[in-house]
Amino acid sequence: MTRIFDEDLNSEFATRAIHAGQRPDLLSGAIMTPIYTTSTYVQEGLGKNKGYEYARGRNPTREALERNVAALEGGKHGFAFSSGMGATSSIMMLFKSGDHVVASESSYGGTFRLFDKVLRNYGLCFTYVDTRDPENVENACNEHTVAIMTETPTNPLMRITDLAAVGEIAKRKGALFIVDNTFASPFFQRPFEFGADIVYHSSTKYLNGHSDMVGGIAIVRDDGLAERLQFILNTAGAVPGAFDAWLVLRGTKTLHLRMPRHDENGRQIAKWLAEKIGDENVIYPGLPSHPQHELAKRQMKGFGGMISILTGSKEKAAKILGKVRVFSLAESLGGVESLISHPASMTHASVPPEARARLGIRDDLLRLSCGVEDVGDLIGDLEQAFT
Ligand SMILES: Cc1ncc(COP(=O)(O)O)c(C=O)c1O
Repeated sequence: MTRIFDEDLNSEFATRAIHAGQRPDLLSGAIMTPIYTTSTYVQEGLGKNKGYEYARGRNPTREALERNVAALEGGKHGFAFSSGMGATSSIMMLFKSGDHVVASESSYGGTFRLFDKVLRNYGLCFTYVDTRDPENVENACNEHTVAIMTETPTNPLMRITDLAAVGEIAKRKGALFIVDNTFASPFFQRPFEFGADIVYHSSTKYLNGHSDMVGGIAIVRDDGLAERLQFILNTAGAVPGAFDAWLVLRGTKTLHLRMPRHDENGRQIAKWLAEKIGDENVIYPGLPSHPQHELAKRQMKGFGGMISILTGSKEKAAKILGKVRVFSLAESLGGVESLISHPASMTHASVPPEARARLGIRDDLLRLSCGVEDVGDLIGDLEQAFT
């Protein structure tokens, strides 16, 4: 399994982003990690090899990425997967029939779909709660609870879970605390500092940052847990190709440059939107009107570029989507380019309509992923789209 280089933890975030987990290539001295496009490795003799046997189990490009993101999160072992969902399903293979998981009721629609439409058939039990209130998490735990899973901020409602409070509950209950850190990225939030056991990402998003691949990554600190995850990774096989791993590795080198700009644009656009349509219609943890703004400030170092808005009607939402020119109508988020989407019919279409209504994923809700373009152009685009 992949373990960080301990000395990488002596560096600050920006240095880790660029160098952690990578060393000049032993053959040529190449400063950039080569893309090892190989499925197998020639062995020196029977039972004698350089530590690499078959690329499902280990690949040097993938390992560089795993060490890099593990160091950024302040973890110890990284596991790269073929998608964020590949990471989630592989993590869930740690559990067995009859095990109980307390999960956030408001999370990425695909996560809910995996739990409700697939894993339930294998005897895993889920209780979905509003994790904004730690007491709900505490009350949902029972003697079979093996994990508490949360996403914060959530997609698309930007709900915040108090990581320290829920981490404490997980510890007391003997359950693994699993956090999807996709929206914040390790630049703004590091769940291990609050008691997480497993932190994971859709690396398709901010980690890659350029919308040119699909991937996932999980990070742990505990050696025993790492061994179990390595077994699952190699056995279930949801691994990324070397080129995709390299694309994320190239992305993380500028994470510390991109995130402040996403944050700056996010704050300015959220402020503009609040003035335009009223702060009650803008959901952004960086706005003082967000009910959990103080908590967000405590556990996050910035708020990023994700904003949701209530437009008043599905027709109004459709009109805006039809008029934007710099923002593009598309699923996904976290790239340098700005995107806008309609969660009810796109990312969260798999959540039943009654559940969407109860949660607040209304038909007039739009989600913006503010990129790193000129903020004046982005606001100008929204201005003409709203008019
Ligand atoms: C918060 C969050 N977690 C997980 C995923 C799943 O990741 P992927 O699309 O890479 O499988 C997504 C995808 O949108 C997401 O937004």
